[in-house]
Amino acid sequence: MRIADVGDLWWRNAVFYCLDVETFRDGNGDGVGDFTGLTESLGYLEQLGVTCIWLMPFYPTPDRDDGYDISDFYGVDPRLGTLGDAAEFIRTARSRGIRVIVDLVVNHTSDKHPWFVQARRSRNSKFRDYYIWRDRPTRNQKNMVFPGEEQSIWEWEPKTEQYYMHSFYRHQPDLNLTNSAVREEIAKIVAYWLTLGVAGFRIDAVPFLLAAPGSPDAADPHEFIRDLKRFVRRRSSEAMLLGEVALPHPEQLEYFGGQDGGELDAQFDFTLMDAVYLASVRGDATPIADALRSRPKTSEPVAWGNFLRNHDELTLQLLTDEEREEVFDALAPEPYQRIYGRGILRRLAPMLNGDPRRLRLAYSLLFSLPGVPVLYYGEEIGMGENPELPGRSAVRSPMQWTPERNGGFSPARPSQLPGSLTTGGFGPEYVNVRNQQMDEGSLFHFIRALIARYRTTPEIGWGDVELVEHDTPGVFAHILRTDHEGGMLALHNLTAEPATVSLPSAADIGGEVLTDLLHPREIPLQAERATDVHLDPYGFLWLQITPPGGAIV
Ligand code: GLC
Repeated sequence: MRIADVGDLWWRNAVFYCLDVETFRDGNGDGVGDFTGLTESLGYLEQLGVTCIWLMPFYPTPDRDDGYDISDFYGVDPRLGTLGDAAEFIRTARSRGIRVIVDLVVNHTSDKHPWFVQARRSRNSKFRDYYIWRDRPTRNQKNMVFPGEEQSIWEWEPKTEQYYMHSFYRHQPDLNLTNSAVREEIAKIVAYWLTLGVAGFRIDAVPFLLAAPGSPDAADPHEFIRDLKRFVRRRSSEAMLLGEVALPHPEQLEYFGGQDGGELDAQFDFTLMDAVYLASVRGDATPIADALRSRPKTSEPVAWGNFLRNHDELTLQLLTDEEREEVFDALAPEPYQRIYGRGILRRLAPMLNGDPRRLRLAYSLLFSLPGVPVLYYGEEIGMGENPELPGRSAVRSPMQWTPERNGGFSPARPSQLPGSLTTGGFGPEYVNVRNQQMDEGSLFHFIRALIARYRTTPEIGWGDVELVEHDTPGVFAHILRTDHEGGMLALHNLTAEPATVSLPSAADIGGEVLTDLLHPREIPLQAERATDVHLDPYGFLWLQITPPGGAIV
């Protein structure tokens, strides 16, 4: 595929950065992060090299699921600012070259949403069919998302004597997307935020959208996404849909719309994420190679969102039971670090014991794997979790800006903050933006350099991947190219031992010289024979394949 063939799909080499306004920066001193603070932080994100901010839900909410329980799709949680503040933020970000996408949470509403408040009161309410009601719960409970916290996906409503469905918490009734009135509401919500200037949506909980178990009128789940995509494209030439589909690759293909596309533009790659953890725990590159091989191919250009952590538990649900245990044992040995039998309540830096070599290796992989990288706020400085915060909140503590009180997040009293900051070795005294900005050797500067290289190496986001055959199992070697000559070769040593990789000849690789993109030096390739390349423990190289007579870009 040539870059020129695919038009301006900006997200194909974007750098996404996910944050929650509530915990990023307090601009008015009341203890809660807000749009004013976020707007003031844009210079920081620009300096880091972020090109698209994904805003977690910031809408009015009872806040019983960190804002994923929405009571008004058209507003802003008053604690975070006004609608004007949000609009100003979106505009200011754009003027600094940063797009904004927002979470679209339409699988469910909060039970405090006026639709549900009316729907539960009377079977004759015009909003009754906005939700899913049954006289009897279905026996199919396989969609239970929060085992231990919820026993069923059906909740009895005594007033109107029926059960309503909730895939997530009982205070989050599922919307009935088979109802055309609900789809029209969603179209209006989407159109509204596009008008305010957002560049797309991270669609929450995609596989749940239309999966009403036992529903006689269950519609084609893909029809909704196809319609949504067409609608979004009519309203905005640039808007994209990034879906949260935590399913195996073959099922993800269906959410791209199959071979021909037409549905989601991008999806997070949960399979690859799980494989990266398994590979790094084992010191064996095979899981990563297998995950990339199993990625489905589409004729329409689609994008994979690569990530190491997000705001939820690190979900290992796509691994086998034995594989999951291996990762648990290595990275979350304590029971309190695990949740739902499938996930880890930790951030990456503590999981890797703060080892700078392993952290750099992990981020080098993240930015060189085919696809688009998605960072979760604080990753760029190696923030840790706060195990004292309940459940998934452990990884949602406030951003650490300075070594001072509240990590510089807010001047308010600590008790006014949305959650307490991390303490100990990953606390703000040791891990904060200001110190790392002043230290050229910090993780922040390292990730900034990776981002700059990622942005000037479009093969990573656009190219086809080739897995390089060699005899060193601990090293992952891959090439990304957008055409036959040139491209980028990346090598990652997942082990604590030095490693040597025998690379194919110049003729096989299609270049004469490998130019190190992260440290200035060159490795000449042998014309007919293998070339040995050495890697430090946890070492990595990004090498530009320079064809004969080619120049470094
Ligand atoms: C998604 C979100 C998660 C939330 C759930 C319900 O999985 O990532 O944080 O709890 O949807 O909206």
